[in-house]
Amino acid sequence: MTTSFAVDPSRGRFVEHPQMSEVVLKTENLSKSYSVKHKTIPALKDLSLEIKRGELVAIMGHSGSGKTTLLSILGCLDKPTSGSVYLDGVNLAALHGSQLTKIRRNKIGFVFQSFNLLPYLNARENVELAMESTGMSKSERSARATELLALVGLSGREEHRPQQLSAGEQQRVAIARALANKPSVILADELTGNLDGKTKYEITKLLVKLNLDGTTIVLVTHDQKVAGESERVIRLASGRIKSEGKGNLAKRKEKHGSVKGAPTPEEIKADGFYDADEASS
Ligand SMILES: Nc1ncnc2c1ncn2[C@@H]1O[C@H](COP(=O)(O)OP(=O)(O)OP(=O)(O)O)[C@@H](O)[C@H]1O
Ligand SMILES: [Mg+2]
Repeated sequence: MTTSFAVDPSRGRFVEHPQMSEVVLKTENLSKSYSVKHKTIPALKDLSLEIKRGELVAIMGHSGSGKTTLLSILGCLDKPTSGSVYLDGVNLAALHGSQLTKIRRNKIGFVFQSFNLLPYLNARENVELAMESTGMSKSERSARATELLALVGLSGREEHRPQQLSAGEQQRVAIARALANKPSVILADELTGNLDGKTKYEITKLLVKLNLDGTTIVLVTHDQKVAGESERVIRLASGRIKSEGKGNLAKRKEKHGSVKGAPTPEEIKADGFYDADEASS
């Protein structure tokens, strides 16, 4: 069983939180087939899984195994052919148009490999945009965007447009944007796919930090090292769950329940994530 942790402000350390062990996302016998020119392509087959609040789950699998399809359905971007998806206990099949849009906007934060930032807006405006239909005033949105950019390590870069930021910095803006509406879960598809070794490590460290601060994250990745830093690794093969295993974060949460924040570079190095040669390249 997976244990979830939360920060206990009075004690400043991680403690098991009874409410945090509830399920955020659940699929039951999920199947998805695509139809192309009278041919049916099965992408997900009878897939059942649960993501608990406070987990950092990595989804791995060969190209075409169904990872993006699963993430799209979990994030209400697509509908299953059969089976059910529950988000915070709500059956998504029962929702329509504007209700789904609302859920996508308020309960899910997406991060993609290609960042998807608007080129003519600066970092702060890109984050602010996510909060546009929330009823917050312009100054509240701006203040929250500045706070979120600081959280992801981008203080001082608020006025930079995407082309004035490095790839890793652009991904940080995308992560800040995904966090904007305090979503129930962050869904990330290959968010380190376009990054070099050192930047990949920095972004993974940021995800671990955000998770230790309470953010539930489901992360699709081809990168064994990135997945290895998560709490639970689910491997897909031909649209089914092939295996599940624990990542370093699970071991770290079990071992260092009292450690707040991201693991140190030394810890990550010791876990074999960080390759010094890669960092210097
Ligand atoms: N819109 C679509 N129309 C038809 N077939 C699709 C569509 N999207 C995905 N597929 C098929 O569904 C299967 C699963 O695709 P999916 O994109 O989920 O794989 P993936 O695991 O994310 O792969 P990758 O690692 O390459 O991103 C593949 O066989 C793919 O060809
Ligand atoms: Mg994919």
